[in-house]
Amino acid sequence: MKHVVRFEPVGVEIEVDEDQTILRGAAEQGVMLMHGCKEGQCAACKSFVLDGELDDIDHDKYSTFALPDYEKDEGYTLLCRAHAYADLTIELLNYDEEMIRSGLPIVDATAEVVSNDAVTHDMRHLVLRLKEPTEVKFFPGQYVDIVVPGTEEHRSFSMANTSSRESGLLEFVIKIYPDGLFSQFMQDKLKVGDELALSGPFGVFTLRESHDSPLVFVGGGAGMAPILSLLRSMAERGITRRARFYYGARTRADLCFEEELRGLEAQLADFRYVPALSEPTDACAWEGETGLITDVVKRLESDCTGRDAYVCGPPPMVEAAMPLLAGLGVDEARIYFDKFTTTGETGQ
Ligand SMILES: Cc1cc2nc3c(=O)[nH]c(=O)nc-3n(C[C@H](O)[C@H](O)[C@H](O)COP(=O)(O)OP(=O)(O)OC[C@H]3O[C@@H](n4cnc5c(N)ncnc54)[C@H](O)[C@@H]3O)c2cc1C
Ligand code: FES
Repeated sequence: MKHVVRFEPVGVEIEVDEDQTILRGAAEQGVMLMHGCKEGQCAACKSFVLDGELDDIDHDKYSTFALPDYEKDEGYTLLCRAHAYADLTIELLNYDEEMIRSGLPIVDATAEVVSNDAVTHDMRHLVLRLKEPTEVKFFPGQYVDIVVPGTEEHRSFSMANTSSRESGLLEFVIKIYPDGLFSQFMQDKLKVGDELALSGPFGVFTLRESHDSPLVFVGGGAGMAPILSLLRSMAERGITRRARFYYGARTRADLCFEEELRGLEAQLADFRYVPALSEPTDACAWEGETGLITDVVKRLESDCTGRDAYVCGPPPMVEAAMPLLAGLGVDEARIYFDKFTTTGETGQ
């Protein structure tokens, strides 16, 4: 059964099958709604049911941190988990008129491993070559879902490259977690020539082209990947917006892509890369910034009014950076983020 879902205040209508989520139905019709994890964890897709009964919507498993019961009772929903069982009108709480009609088609693809190398003691650089189809268009900053071989599970990974530079290649920076279903498999078993299945692109962590405001990027851990993609794309396209990239790591051994980022300082019109170590040791012989990355931003930036901010990495870092940037004057609607939430822990 299909139902009509109308989104306000943008006035866009889609038809959704009962067996697909509203977010997925929208994406398949080229309507790009705000989202992050697609797993009911991050709350980026939270919206309000303006017209429709509570039992017209059924939710797949989600975290009650993302949607507490009292909010659900008031009429809030997570579009990435919601199935419509009647026609509905939904108020989008976060939306971006520039993005909403810019959806790229979601593609199921297979790809072959080109390389799988360590870039730090616990992060790897995985490069895939698409086999079927041989190209997938994506915006810098987007991600794909990779199926964990031998399971029905998938994990989301952001591309570190751009789809224009080396068409057919997908590059990732992936952190290895002890007992991590995909990351341990990748570290221990995934070899050059092996095949992976994936689908995408997803995500709205992309450069808003209509703005020419200065940019501030804040990243930690594997949050390097989509920020590198955005910076590489700026260099490729000669974008001259002022940009600062604050990157948090524990020790010097956790830093990666240093040479390329220093090169981008020379290549981009007005770009500075500011790595900071939160736990420097004597062995680091570090003369750069120290402390939590949010403290470093607070120390070095006094006024970020009028800037666009991009924050990406582990959820606690993202959650600390967002109010900080808003406090420094960034318009909340212009703080774009991807929380690298895990797929495992759900509260319901
Ligand atoms: C939109 C999006 C984009 C992402 N992009 C990337 C990316 O570019 N690179 C990347 O490395 N990851 C990225 N992630 C996270 C990724 O999808 C996986 O969740 C992560 O790699 C862990 O998967 P796993 O199968 O190895 O571990 P799991 O089997 O899911 O987890 C195993 C163990 O590790 C712990 N664990 C997993 N993740 C974390 C964490 N973040 N912090 C603390 N403990 C954790 C779990 O609690 C569990 O105990 C992204 C997530 C999202 C939602
Ligand atoms: S909770 Fe829906 S996208 Fe994260």
